[in-house]
Amino acid sequence: MSSNTAGMKKIGVLTSGGDAPGMNAAIRAVVRTCVYYKLTPFGVKEGYEVLINNNIYKMDAGSVKHIIHQGGTVLKSARSKEFMTDEGMEKAWKNIDDIGLDGLVVIGGDGSFKGAMAFGARFSFPIVGIPGTIDNDIYGTDQTVGFDTATNTIIEAVDKIRDTATSHNRLFFIEVMGRDAGFIALNSGIAAGAEEILIPEKDRDVDHLFDSLERTSQRNKSSRLVIVAEGDKNGSVYDLEKQVQQRFGDRYETKVTILGHIQRGGRPSCYDRVLASRLGVRAVEALMDGQHYVMIGTRNKQIVYTNFEQATKQNPEMDEELLRVAHIISI
Ligand code: F6P
Repeated sequence: MSSNTAGMKKIGVLTSGGDAPGMNAAIRAVVRTCVYYKLTPFGVKEGYEVLINNNIYKMDAGSVKHIIHQGGTVLKSARSKEFMTDEGMEKAWKNIDDIGLDGLVVIGGDGSFKGAMAFGARFSFPIVGIPGTIDNDIYGTDQTVGFDTATNTIIEAVDKIRDTATSHNRLFFIEVMGRDAGFIALNSGIAAGAEEILIPEKDRDVDHLFDSLERTSQRNKSSRLVIVAEGDKNGSVYDLEKQVQQRFGDRYETKVTILGHIQRGGRPSCYDRVLASRLGVRAVEALMDGQHYVMIGTRNKQIVYTNFEQATKQNPEMDEELLRVAHIISI
């Protein structure tokens, strides 16, 4: 139980940045926890954009029924550039002040937390964050809400590509999301049994890929899957395909698949629903305990707070052991 030393009465919740499966479970947990502690929850539609346009509405336990299993976010999301301007922040503050919100829960990625940090510093307004992004690129938590679902969506798609790749002895380059991080690519690449995984954290040049293709040829592999993180530094998957064709001629019949935004949709996994629910409850309790400008995450499955400054300063370390596993099992 939380004692509400901060005297919270009205708490807003918004989703910001790229949507992620599980955001609705987090919204539901925030709203239900407010109701549990007899606080009044307010939904802020379309992220920071609406703090400016004032589409803020009172919610109750019934407002979040039948959403825990839905992908996307019922509050919608936006990447609001206006919010980061002086005028945008002043407008947002006026709307918050008119309603009398005492605190805000921001569900999003590091860009959302940077906005929260700037806004909180300017108006001394209590804000806490829940890491909601498929990229898993936020420092201070074992996993972000949406990552588990997205990687499962990806391996379902890549398993299908494997069927046709083996039927036609083809080499597929498959681009996955992750922005400037390779967590999605590394985990889904291992799970899908890819022969090669290219991620920005391991600044491998295209010769490494050529060596890998030669090595697997010696094992008479007739098809190959190469998972490429969209932020990989070797250029686009089409550039990679062209370089392989220039190097090997017609030895490989190559194809390219860019998975795109299907990685962002779909019903959240059990893991993401449970993670989102845990973080949603603790976000409200953190505000009640007087916490400001911290992200609620988990470390070794235990709830931890990481201040926005740290959470947004760097990406989490790439798991070296996972990289070693990927290298060994892709022989
Ligand atoms: O941050 C989540 C993410 O899906 C990234 O992986 C991707 O690069 C980006 O959002 C795409 O942004 P948008 O949905 O605005 O095209």
